[in-house]
Amino acid sequence: MVVGYLEYTLSRSSMSLPPLSHRAQKTPASPIRRLAGLAQQAEERGAKVYRLNIGQPDIHSPAEFLEGLAHYSEKVVAYETSQGHKALIDAWSESLNKDYGIDVGEPQMLITMGASEALIFTFMVCCDPGDEILIFDPTYANYIGFSAISGVRLVPLPCSIEEKFAIPTRAEIERFISPYTRAILLCNPNNPTGTVATDEELRALLEVCREKDLYLIVDETYREFVYDG
Ligand SMILES: Cc1ncc(COP(=O)(O)O)c(C=O)c1O
Repeated sequence: MVVGYLEYTLSRSSMSLPPLSHRAQKTPASPIRRLAGLAQQAEERGAKVYRLNIGQPDIHSPAEFLEGLAHYSEKVVAYETSQGHKALIDAWSESLNKDYGIDVGEPQMLITMGASEALIFTFMVCCDPGDEILIFDPTYANYIGFSAISGVRLVPLPCSIEEKFAIPTRAEIERFISPYTRAILLCNPNNPTGTVATDEELRALLEVCREKDLYLIVDETYREFVYDG
Protein backbone atom coordinates (compact mmCIF):
# COMPACT_ATOMS: atom_id res chain seq x y z
CA MET A 1 0.00 0.00 0.00
CA VAL A 2 2.85 2.33 0.89
CA VAL A 3 4.57 1.57 -2.41
CA GLY A 4 1.33 2.08 -4.32
CA TYR A 5 0.83 5.41 -2.60
CA LEU A 6 4.41 6.50 -3.36
CA GLU A 7 4.06 5.51 -7.00
CA TYR A 8 0.79 7.41 -7.23
CA THR A 9 2.25 10.52 -5.57
CA LEU A 10 5.40 10.48 -7.68
CA SER A 11 3.55 9.81 -10.92
CA ARG A 12 1.81 13.14 -10.33
CA SER A 13 5.09 15.00 -9.78
CA SER A 14 8.29 15.29 -11.81
CA MET A 15 10.24 13.14 -9.32
CA SER A 16 11.19 9.56 -10.15
CA LEU A 17 11.02 6.62 -7.79
CA PRO A 18 14.22 4.96 -6.54
CA PRO A 19 14.38 1.24 -7.42
CA LEU A 20 12.10 -0.99 -5.39
CA SER A 21 13.56 -3.82 -3.31
CA HIS A 22 14.22 -7.10 -5.13
CA ARG A 23 11.53 -8.59 -2.92
CA ALA A 24 8.95 -6.06 -4.12
CA GLN A 25 9.96 -6.56 -7.75
CA LYS A 26 9.60 -10.33 -7.41
CA THR A 27 6.20 -10.12 -5.69
CA PRO A 28 3.44 -10.55 -8.27
CA ALA A 29 0.27 -8.47 -8.16
CA SER A 30 -2.71 -10.32 -6.74
CA PRO A 31 -4.15 -12.30 -9.68
CA ILE A 32 -7.60 -11.62 -8.24
CA ARG A 33 -7.16 -7.85 -8.30
CA ARG A 34 -5.68 -8.06 -11.81
CA LEU A 35 -8.76 -9.92 -12.97
CA ALA A 36 -11.00 -7.26 -11.39
CA GLY A 37 -9.35 -4.57 -13.54
CA LEU A 38 -9.82 -6.63 -16.71
CA ALA A 39 -13.46 -7.23 -15.79
CA GLN A 40 -14.05 -3.52 -15.37
CA GLN A 41 -12.49 -2.80 -18.78
CA ALA A 42 -14.73 -5.45 -20.36
CA GLU A 43 -17.79 -3.88 -18.70
CA GLU A 44 -16.79 -0.47 -20.05
CA ARG A 45 -16.75 -2.06 -23.52
CA GLY A 46 -20.35 -3.17 -22.89
CA ALA A 47 -19.75 -6.84 -22.02
CA LYS A 48 -21.85 -8.58 -19.39
CA VAL A 49 -19.47 -9.77 -16.67
CA TYR A 50 -20.22 -12.49 -14.10
CA ARG A 51 -17.86 -11.72 -11.23
CA LEU A 52 -16.58 -15.03 -9.95
CA ASN A 53 -13.24 -13.51 -8.94
CA ILE A 54 -14.35 -12.55 -5.43
CA GLY A 55 -16.87 -14.05 -3.04
CA GLN A 56 -18.86 -10.95 -2.16
CA PRO A 57 -21.23 -12.19 0.54
CA ASP A 58 -24.96 -12.13 0.02
CA ILE A 59 -25.66 -13.45 3.52
CA HIS A 60 -26.34 -10.99 6.32
CA SER A 61 -23.43 -10.05 8.59
CA PRO A 62 -24.01 -11.20 12.21
CA ALA A 63 -26.53 -8.93 13.98
CA GLU A 64 -24.31 -8.87 17.11
CA PHE A 65 -21.46 -7.37 15.06
CA LEU A 66 -23.63 -4.67 13.48
CA GLU A 67 -25.24 -3.84 16.84
CA GLY A 68 -21.83 -3.65 18.50
CA LEU A 69 -20.75 -1.09 15.90
CA ALA A 70 -23.97 0.91 16.16
CA HIS A 71 -23.72 1.13 19.96
CA TYR A 72 -19.98 1.79 20.23
CA SER A 73 -19.74 4.71 22.61
CA GLU A 74 -16.01 5.16 23.36
CA LYS A 75 -14.73 8.59 22.36
CA VAL A 76 -11.19 7.31 21.65
CA VAL A 77 -10.31 4.16 19.72
CA ALA A 78 -7.04 3.32 21.46
CA TYR A 79 -4.31 0.79 20.64
CA GLU A 80 -5.06 -2.82 21.53
CA THR A 81 -2.35 -5.03 23.09
CA SER A 82 -0.12 -6.62 20.41
CA GLN A 83 -1.59 -10.05 21.09
CA GLY A 84 -5.16 -8.89 20.54
CA HIS A 85 -8.33 -8.05 22.45
CA LYS A 86 -8.69 -10.33 25.50
CA ALA A 87 -12.42 -10.98 25.04
CA LEU A 88 -11.81 -11.93 21.37
CA ILE A 89 -8.95 -14.29 22.30
CA ASP A 90 -11.16 -15.93 24.94
CA ALA A 91 -14.10 -16.27 22.53
CA TRP A 92 -11.89 -17.83 19.81
CA SER A 93 -10.24 -20.20 22.29
CA GLU A 94 -13.62 -21.35 23.55
CA SER A 95 -14.94 -21.86 20.01
CA LEU A 96 -11.85 -23.81 18.84
CA ASN A 97 -11.77 -25.93 21.99
CA LYS A 98 -15.45 -26.80 21.60
CA ASP A 99 -15.26 -27.58 17.87
CA TYR A 100 -12.03 -29.55 17.88
CA GLY A 101 -11.87 -31.00 21.40
CA ILE A 102 -8.51 -29.29 22.05
CA ASP A 103 -7.22 -27.13 24.86
CA VAL A 104 -5.81 -23.82 23.58
CA GLY A 105 -5.90 -20.52 25.41
CA GLU A 106 -4.23 -17.14 25.56
CA PRO A 107 -0.60 -18.41 25.36
CA GLN A 108 -1.30 -20.03 21.95
CA MET A 109 -3.38 -17.26 20.40
CA LEU A 110 -2.51 -14.21 18.29
CA ILE A 111 -5.15 -11.98 16.69
CA THR A 112 -4.18 -10.60 13.27
CA MET A 113 -5.70 -8.20 10.77
CA GLY A 114 -7.24 -10.93 8.66
CA ALA A 115 -5.91 -14.17 7.24
CA SER A 116 -3.26 -12.65 4.94
CA GLU A 117 -1.32 -11.20 7.85
CA ALA A 118 -1.61 -14.46 9.79
CA LEU A 119 -0.32 -16.43 6.78
CA ILE A 120 2.61 -14.10 6.11
CA PHE A 121 3.60 -14.25 9.82
CA THR A 122 3.32 -18.04 9.69
CA PHE A 123 5.48 -18.34 6.56
CA MET A 124 8.05 -16.03 8.18
CA VAL A 125 8.27 -17.89 11.48
CA CYS A 126 8.22 -21.42 10.05
CA CYS A 127 10.59 -20.86 7.09
CA ASP A 128 13.85 -19.22 6.16
CA PRO A 129 14.30 -17.76 2.67
CA GLY A 130 14.74 -20.63 0.19
CA ASP A 131 12.70 -23.10 2.26
CA GLU A 132 9.72 -24.85 0.67
CA ILE A 133 6.04 -25.25 1.51
CA LEU A 134 3.93 -27.90 -0.23
CA ILE A 135 0.49 -26.79 -1.43
CA PHE A 136 -2.35 -28.67 -3.12
CA ASP A 137 -2.96 -27.13 -6.51
CA PRO A 138 -5.34 -25.45 -7.42
CA THR A 139 -5.63 -23.38 -4.27
CA TYR A 140 -5.88 -19.79 -3.07
CA ALA A 141 -3.99 -17.67 -5.62
CA ASN A 142 -2.59 -15.12 -3.14
CA TYR A 143 -0.36 -17.73 -1.47
CA ILE A 144 1.97 -16.90 -4.38
CA GLY A 145 2.32 -13.30 -3.18
CA PHE A 146 2.74 -14.31 0.48
CA SER A 147 5.53 -16.72 -0.47
CA ALA A 148 7.29 -14.11 -2.64
CA ILE A 149 7.26 -11.64 0.25
CA SER A 150 8.71 -14.16 2.68
CA GLY A 151 11.22 -15.72 0.24
CA VAL A 152 9.54 -19.12 0.46
CA ARG A 153 9.22 -21.47 -2.53
CA LEU A 154 5.76 -22.96 -2.98
CA VAL A 155 5.81 -26.51 -4.32
CA PRO A 156 2.46 -27.38 -5.92
CA LEU A 157 1.14 -30.95 -5.76
CA PRO A 158 -1.33 -31.29 -8.62
CA CYS A 159 -4.89 -32.35 -7.71
CA SER A 160 -7.27 -33.37 -10.48
CA ILE A 161 -10.86 -32.48 -11.17
CA GLU A 162 -11.51 -36.15 -12.06
CA GLU A 163 -10.58 -37.07 -8.46
CA LYS A 164 -12.76 -34.19 -7.11
CA PHE A 165 -9.53 -32.41 -6.09
CA ALA A 166 -8.85 -35.02 -3.40
CA ILE A 167 -5.57 -34.71 -1.50
CA PRO A 168 -2.94 -36.96 -3.16
CA THR A 169 -1.88 -40.16 -1.43
CA ARG A 170 0.76 -40.18 1.25
CA ALA A 171 3.28 -41.82 -1.11
CA GLU A 172 2.64 -39.05 -3.67
CA ILE A 173 3.07 -36.31 -1.05
CA GLU A 174 6.34 -37.85 0.13
CA ARG A 175 7.70 -37.72 -3.44
CA PHE A 176 7.56 -33.90 -3.25
CA ILE A 177 9.29 -33.54 0.12
CA SER A 178 12.87 -32.29 -0.18
CA PRO A 179 15.53 -31.32 2.38
CA TYR A 180 14.14 -27.76 2.09
CA THR A 181 10.51 -28.63 2.87
CA ARG A 182 9.40 -27.01 6.11
CA ALA A 183 5.61 -27.20 5.95
CA ILE A 184 2.49 -28.43 4.21
CA LEU A 185 -0.20 -25.81 3.67
CA LEU A 186 -3.78 -26.99 3.40
CA CYS A 187 -6.68 -24.68 2.56
CA ASN A 188 -9.72 -26.40 4.06
CA PRO A 189 -12.38 -25.97 2.71
CA ASN A 190 -10.30 -25.15 -0.33
CA ASN A 191 -10.65 -21.93 -2.29
CA PRO A 192 -11.44 -22.13 -5.22
CA THR A 193 -12.52 -25.79 -5.47
CA GLY A 194 -14.68 -26.04 -2.33
CA THR A 195 -13.13 -29.41 -1.53
CA VAL A 196 -13.24 -30.40 2.15
CA ALA A 197 -10.53 -32.81 3.34
CA THR A 198 -11.80 -36.10 4.78
CA ASP A 199 -10.82 -37.22 8.28
CA GLU A 200 -8.67 -39.90 6.69
CA GLU A 201 -6.81 -37.37 4.52
CA LEU A 202 -6.25 -35.08 7.51
CA ARG A 203 -4.91 -37.96 9.58
CA ALA A 204 -2.52 -38.95 6.75
CA LEU A 205 -1.28 -35.35 6.50
CA LEU A 206 -0.67 -35.21 10.25
CA GLU A 207 1.26 -38.47 10.11
CA VAL A 208 3.48 -37.24 7.26
CA CYS A 209 4.16 -33.99 9.10
CA ARG A 210 5.01 -35.76 12.36
CA GLU A 211 7.22 -38.29 10.61
CA LYS A 212 9.10 -35.75 8.47
CA ASP A 213 9.18 -33.04 11.17
CA LEU A 214 7.13 -30.52 9.15
CA TYR A 215 4.63 -27.86 10.15
CA LEU A 216 1.04 -28.39 9.06
CA ILE A 217 -0.47 -24.97 8.26
CA VAL A 218 -4.23 -25.03 7.83
CA ASP A 219 -6.09 -22.05 6.38
CA GLU A 220 -9.69 -22.48 7.55
CA THR A 221 -11.03 -19.16 6.29
CA TYR A 222 -14.19 -20.97 5.11
CA ARG A 223 -14.59 -23.37 8.03
CA GLU A 224 -18.11 -22.04 8.77
CA PHE A 225 -19.21 -22.64 5.17
CA VAL A 226 -19.66 -26.40 5.15
CA TYR A 227 -23.33 -27.27 4.88
CA ASP A 228 -23.40 -31.06 4.75
CA GLY A 229 -21.83 -31.85 8.10
C1 LIG B 1 -8.55 -19.15 1.47
C2 LIG B 1 -8.26 -17.74 1.81
N1 LIG B 1 -7.24 -17.46 2.65
C3 LIG B 1 -6.93 -16.18 2.97
C4 LIG B 1 -7.67 -15.12 2.47
C5 LIG B 1 -7.29 -13.72 2.84
O1 LIG B 1 -8.11 -13.27 3.85
P1 LIG B 1 -8.05 -11.79 4.44
O2 LIG B 1 -8.83 -10.94 3.51
O3 LIG B 1 -8.69 -11.93 5.80
O4 LIG B 1 -6.61 -11.38 4.53
C6 LIG B 1 -8.74 -15.36 1.61
C7 LIG B 1 -9.52 -14.25 1.07
O5 LIG B 1 -10.33 -14.39 0.17
C8 LIG B 1 -9.03 -16.70 1.25
O6 LIG B 1 -10.01 -16.99 0.39
